[in-house]
Amino acid sequence: MGFRDKVVYQIYPKSFQDSNSDGWGDIQGIISRLDYLQKLGINYIWFNPMIVSPQRDNGYDVADYRNFDPRYGTMEDFEELSREAAKRGIGLMFDMVFNHTSTEHEWFKKAMAGDEKYKKYYIFRKGKGPGVPPNNWQSKFAGPAWEYVEKYDEWYLHLFDVTQADLDWTNPEVRQECADIVNYWISKGVHGFRFDVINLISKASFEDDPNNYDGRQFYTDGPREHEYLQELNRNSFGQDPEHLTVGEMSSTTIDNCVRYANCDGRELDMVFSFHHLKVDYKNQMKWELQPMDFMRLKELFVQWQVGMQEADAWNALFWNCHDQPRSISRFGNDKEYRKESGKMLATALHMMRGTPYIYQGEEIGMPNAYFTDISQYVDVESTNIFKVLKEQGKSEEEIYHILQERSRDNARTPMQWDDSPNAGFTDGTPWIQAAGSYKTVNVKGTLEDPDSIFVHYQKLIEMRKTLPVVQEGIYVPMLEDHPKVYAYERRTEDDSLIVINNFFAEETEVDVNLEGYEVYLSNYADTKTDSHLVLRPYESVIFRKKA
Ligand code: GLC
Repeated sequence: MGFRDKVVYQIYPKSFQDSNSDGWGDIQGIISRLDYLQKLGINYIWFNPMIVSPQRDNGYDVADYRNFDPRYGTMEDFEELSREAAKRGIGLMFDMVFNHTSTEHEWFKKAMAGDEKYKKYYIFRKGKGPGVPPNNWQSKFAGPAWEYVEKYDEWYLHLFDVTQADLDWTNPEVRQECADIVNYWISKGVHGFRFDVINLISKASFEDDPNNYDGRQFYTDGPREHEYLQELNRNSFGQDPEHLTVGEMSSTTIDNCVRYANCDGRELDMVFSFHHLKVDYKNQMKWELQPMDFMRLKELFVQWQVGMQEADAWNALFWNCHDQPRSISRFGNDKEYRKESGKMLATALHMMRGTPYIYQGEEIGMPNAYFTDISQYVDVESTNIFKVLKEQGKSEEEIYHILQERSRDNARTPMQWDDSPNAGFTDGTPWIQAAGSYKTVNVKGTLEDPDSIFVHYQKLIEMRKTLPVVQEGIYVPMLEDHPKVYAYERRTEDDSLIVINNFFAEETEVDVNLEGYEVYLSNYADTKTDSHLVLRPYESVIFRKKA
């Protein structure tokens, strides 16, 4: 497993660095920041889509899989990026959005123009009656998952926005097109791939959801899912010895993930699952707030760590991405304990078994955007839900509070490089406003601080590169009943790490046998090895014992 010593950094290109003052991040901007990423020590960059898209869902509505959106740059810019990244030992990962295309894609346009071949690329069905869609499924971005097309007196399926039409993977031509797209990017020197919502491509049936929920039980981890992934693997990246793949798995199960990401290499290298990022959803509902259920978070970590390990399968580890609010605001404390909690969250995650992903800005402790007006939000999901919650009778104040906690735009504001206007992201007008925190939380300030969150990430990345116990050690849960502490051991024959994390702003005590152990890394300067530990707010320690 060539990637167990590697760490991936996620760039949201639209918000990373603008080089030509159009308020939009671009490839040249990314090139200008590669030295920063090399300093951090990461091995791969995963880019959210930079290909042609009407941007209704920021690039996840693909209109052309093979060409860059000119706002990001050209193929020549990309080739330069590829060379410059390689010089710094950094590999590139692209996002493949294969569950759906934009309705602006030529396939969909042909389908709408009456071309039977392309109509079969999508999922068109008859309604249950006049004006009644084929079933009661709901789009993940609110509203029905079907759109009526008068010309055919049929409806097309869109699990996401109405402009994101689902592809029909039962059609072998669709599967071949997707494999060809992967091969095209391999020919351009891309060896890493992240497959967007890839566990939704096999729809089991099109019946009504009996629970009147959104229908996910009929299209998640569907019956032909593993077959499709194995075929895609055989016909594309599986032939590339350098490949690195990760699947985004929506509402999935361990039983499926041990197959998706089994180390036998038949499907993918690793998977993102999201259960740990729902522990603050009330009744599993994204738009209903509750404080994090810490015991549930621990339980999920243990289940996924142990479950995947037992089956020799591999997790992708992450707190943040472009779809999630900032972890420091969510699971840490972005006010009086920003540094302590930022480092604690990093340690808790990076020492687990799996491949860590860092989302831009996480390494400097960027908090949520805390926007106060709907005009500041851009994300289609947020603007849709704003309307829905209003219709449900919630006050604007309540809705803003919810969006400040949950909106995807919390992660999408410009990368905070310095304290100049627009956080140093652009000297034009940014496509989305910078978050107010940039005056105090920014890369420039961070790099001047020897005790920064950034320095802590550097150390964790270095540990993964150099310590076999971090790469290969088994994961053993500890202190499972402790109400404030998440702890575990990583162990090989001749090495052991005990990782202890206080997830709260209050002191808490733990008893652990630490005979023979020494402090290896802590987020407090003066942590001592003691089998009775009084942990300070968000204190997080790695103890090590070598045989
Ligand atoms: C994934 C992406 C998200 C996008 C959705 C639809 O969840 O990460 O940003 O909106 O798929 O493509």
